[in-house]
Amino acid sequence: MKNIVILISGGGSNMAAIVRAAQQQDWQERHGIRIAAVISNRPGAGGLALAQGLGIATQVLDHKAYATREDFDAALAQAVAAHDPALVVLAGFMRVLTPIFVERFAGRLLNIHPSLLPAFPGLDTHQRAIDAGCKVAGCTVHEVTAELDVGPILEQAVVPVLPCDSAQTLAARVLEQEHQIYPRAILAFLRCGEDGQGAGASCLR
Ligand code: GAR
Repeated sequence: MKNIVILISGGGSNMAAIVRAAQQQDWQERHGIRIAAVISNRPGAGGLALAQGLGIATQVLDHKAYATREDFDAALAQAVAAHDPALVVLAGFMRVLTPIFVERFAGRLLNIHPSLLPAFPGLDTHQRAIDAGCKVAGCTVHEVTAELDVGPILEQAVVPVLPCDSAQTLAARVLEQEHQIYPRAILAFLRCGEDGQGAGASCLR
């Protein structure tokens, strides 16, 4: 069985899209892929109740309970490793991870970012795209490396930026696409190698 651990900080709509895709497409029976746990660094994350409602085990590791970023990452790495994950999925996980975590899960760590990377890494992506006069915006699934929002790009989707857009309306249009591409990229990543060709991200690069 290939276990997925999903890390969230907020509403968890990407997490829910992944869980629903896994359930509707029967990943467990057909591909031996199972969502083992959802872990949040924020006790109040809305995604926790959503995950429980979808039948997924949840866990909270409050980053505020740790003295340093490294201490938190070491504890998080231990909690994640307990599920023996084939893949760790960042889904609206709003913490910068240190090498302690990134190196341990290198090659099996994915993120979704709400811009067409390499444009607009970091925060406030939609307002920055509007302010820059972009005609298109979008989202990116990429491998996580030590540098923020820079790892190899695995999948992207593009949406128009409309003259009437606010950051909120653009975010909603992008989020719809996130829910399409993230489950697809995860399945392709984990199925890569089934036919003896390639492994992991090599099928998507
Ligand atoms: C999503 O738009 C995701 O791309 C973004 O946070 C949102 C989480 O929504 N992630 C980042 O900005 C990471 N740098 P969700 O909790 O509803 O999935």
